[in-house]
Amino acid sequence: PKFTIVDQDTCIACGACGETAPDIFEYDDEGLSFVHLDNNAGVKEVPEDLHEDLEDALDGCPTESIKIAEESFDGNPTKFE
Ligand code: F3S
Repeated sequence: PKFTIVDQDTCIACGACGETAPDIFEYDDEGLSFVHLDNNAGVKEVPEDLHEDLEDALDGCPTESIKIAEESFDGNPTKFE
């Protein structure tokens, strides 16, 4: 399983992830990215058919704000760091 979450403390609203993976990432009023699957809680498994988009978004984020793990983040982007 794959879980994902955006660390909004480091996201610079560059806008790349929503272009790459529009079914996973959206932007809030300030342009900061969040995972719309679970309102950026990192608790919902990313569907298999979106895994490739997710990896591409990970590679494309200039600030490494996109986090991926095999377990739930429980709302904490830095849980595994
Ligand atoms: Fe932010 Fe990275 Fe997306 S900086 S807008 S999480 S590509």
